[in-house]
Amino acid sequence: MDTLVYIMNFIKDRNVASITPTSSVGVKRVCDKIDFNRENLIVEYGPGTGVFSRYLLKNMGEESRLILIERNKNFNSILRNKLRDPRVFVVQESAENVLDTLRSYKEEEADYIISGIPFSFLDSDLKHRILYNTHRALKKGGKFLVYQTCFQTNNHLKVHLQKYFPIVHSKYELVNIPPLRIFEAIK
Ligand SMILES: C[S@@+](CC[C@H](N)C(=O)[O-])C[C@H]1O[C@@H](n2cnc3c(N)ncnc32)[C@H](O)[C@@H]1O
Repeated sequence: MDTLVYIMNFIKDRNVASITPTSSVGVKRVCDKIDFNRENLIVEYGPGTGVFSRYLLKNMGEESRLILIERNKNFNSILRNKLRDPRVFVVQESAENVLDTLRSYKEEEADYIISGIPFSFLDSDLKHRILYNTHRALKKGGKFLVYQTCFQTNNHLKVHLQKYFPIVHSKYELVNIPPLRIFEAIK
């Protein structure tokens, strides 16, 4: 069902960049890097129909909050209708405006920012604005968790991440169609 929604939106919006949501194994592998035993402010860029958001809401505590930044209008409506939870806030925005978004919710810094946006499709200026503002939006020790399909990534993203973050780990997750590359960048 979600795949059909992706295909329809992919045809109209090239930034969707995928015809199917991330698999449950892929979601778990990315979210394994989150400490759910503490109160967190988590921001998600490009949640699509909410495959990560639902997992996060299931695992995070009552005091944690989740801000979803999705630029596609249709996905925004789906998220607002499906995720009725007082801990979640859905904004139709682009990721580079994360600092304004945090301010609008009276938040300062995030513990984790998760991103599924297709970095290789972005022009260089936008890519750098997103990375610069993401770094500023995170607490010291906070993590930027990025996943890309192997069709969307090359080693350039790791090089760009290393310009902003002192520690960057990356690995492949093969039990996802197509395989994922997962980056963990720590401030
Ligand atoms: C590859 S899909 C990932 C969707 C979902 N998170 C998943 O794992 O299946 C990329 C998503 O990023 C969104 N997107 C692309 N560019 C964006 C931007 N600059 N800011 C926020 N969302 C963006 C697209 O609309 C789409 O929902």
